[in-house]
Amino acid sequence: MNIDQKIQELNQRKDEIQLGGGVARIEKQHEGGSLTARERLNVLLDQDSFQETGLFARHRGTLFGMAEKEMHADGVVTGAGSVNSRLVHIACQDFTVGGGSVGEIHSAKIVQMMQSSLKTGSPFIMINDSGGARIQEGIDSLSGYGKVFYNNVMLSGVVPQISLICGPCAGGAAYSPALTDFIIQTKSARIFITGPSVIKAVTGEEVSSEDLGGPAAQMNISGVVHFIAEDDMDAIAICKRLLSFLPSNNLEDPPRKEAEETILPDKQLNEIVPVDPKQSYDVRDVIGHVVDHADFMEVQAFFASNIVIGFARLQGRSVGIVANQPCVMAGVLDINASDKAARFIRFCNAFNIPLLTFVDVPGFLPGVEQEYGGIIRHGAKMLFAYSAATVPKITVIMRKAYGGAYLAMCCKDLDADRVISWPTAEIAVMGAEGAVDVIFRNEIKKAEDPVLRRQELITEYRDTFSTPYVSASRLHVDDIIEPADTRRYLALALDILHSKREFRPQKKHGLIPL
Ligand code: HXC
Repeated sequence: MNIDQKIQELNQRKDEIQLGGGVARIEKQHEGGSLTARERLNVLLDQDSFQETGLFARHRGTLFGMAEKEMHADGVVTGAGSVNSRLVHIACQDFTVGGGSVGEIHSAKIVQMMQSSLKTGSPFIMINDSGGARIQEGIDSLSGYGKVFYNNVMLSGVVPQISLICGPCAGGAAYSPALTDFIIQTKSARIFITGPSVIKAVTGEEVSSEDLGGPAAQMNISGVVHFIAEDDMDAIAICKRLLSFLPSNNLEDPPRKEAEETILPDKQLNEIVPVDPKQSYDVRDVIGHVVDHADFMEVQAFFASNIVIGFARLQGRSVGIVANQPCVMAGVLDINASDKAARFIRFCNAFNIPLLTFVDVPGFLPGVEQEYGGIIRHGAKMLFAYSAATVPKITVIMRKAYGGAYLAMCCKDLDADRVISWPTAEIAVMGAEGAVDVIFRNEIKKAEDPVLRRQELITEYRDTFSTPYVSASRLHVDDIIEPADTRRYLALALDILHSKREFRPQKKHGLIPL
């Protein structure tokens, strides 16, 4: 062959491989409302930025008909590219090739990308669409998964890892996304450890694939998933938006966007939170008025909705927001809320994203179920995560801040850099009614008019403790501000704290209660 013939052969081979499992399987993928692996990459990555590696990869299987089986690119497209001009490494499973099943070479390709992410300090993105371990490759397949899991852990806290679930993700395969920082699942995708038929055989329970592994189940009930996407296009849009808030690695700051020249007071903030502590409101209205362009990317919106977490920007700087949600279970902290918040706090700390905490919390949820479920262990995660965090930590006490939950929402004693409160704040061991019933039980019983006396004592207790002034006098609160000035105060505090450095004693790692 001369050079022209060799180039022609090369191009033919490339064209054939890039067609994945062939036209019929691509059409099947489209009929199911899904994009192919290469279409997904085209949508996610900047034009002409993709550099593929491992196009000619081929499995080494010989058993169960594998010797003669062509599996183009071994069922996964891998490479580097850019998203909004920022480098990422990516592995995108191709369901049209052997059902995207994971064999030795398939997983080696994924691992190579993970290691390149680590070396170049760039986020790792994995698009999952796979029947799981390639059954014909046996232990080699399992070993491949083991290496992916190991590298997920090596990357953890060094570069952001994002998983998109755009098809099946069953069995042990689900543990790779679980080891990453964020999971985005499309409505038609399914993720579970054991499918409906295995569950029926083992436990007798009957459940549909959607009820078991659809995104509603795996966000609202299990808290595994962080974002629900309508379809592939939406999942990719969510991924791009999420990346925009994050640094490329733990040694960088998040990218900064433009800031306003002057911040004017926002009088509407004075009206959102009712003074009456029994009245409810949606804390996302407060967040919307504080952050840039009311642009708040809520994470896990449908899981443990009594606490709200998510990303936003303030004067162009990325911030992580944690806020009690008074319109869901009065904003109480429970097991799931503690897990949700603690994990988010640790992510923000790992990636240099300052934490803003908005407090309106009546306490930890009482109950046998919560105690038996380990609320002590789970609630402690919030104390641990906030205490261990060294990023700028700024807390706004809007209204109620009672007892252990006051502490757990990043008080001064957990080393918050600023704690400010609004004049509506009530910072106390417990609500005035409960406090009076405990400490003045006998006095109320003996009073001529017990109802009147109880009310007098409640008022006295509230006037004494349930204001921010006592806390401010003892330096638990740095300042008391008009709600309208919150955005301005926080922006200045973030500027001041930008150069914050804090060094802790060397250790292998802390022992967060799991
Ligand atoms: C090898 C597989 C495969 C697998 C699918 N295929 N899964 N090949 N190993 N795990 C192949 C099919 O044989 C078929 O090939 C092609 O992919 C498309 O699959 P279909 O079944 O035709 O597609 P569909 O009807 O859409 O069903 C998709 C599916 C189903 C629900 C994912 O394929 C399925 O149930 N697969 C097996 C899932 C499973 O049990 N995986 C192992 C989990 S255990 P042909 O050539 O016929 O078109 C596991 C352990 C990991 O993953 C442990 C790590 C710690």
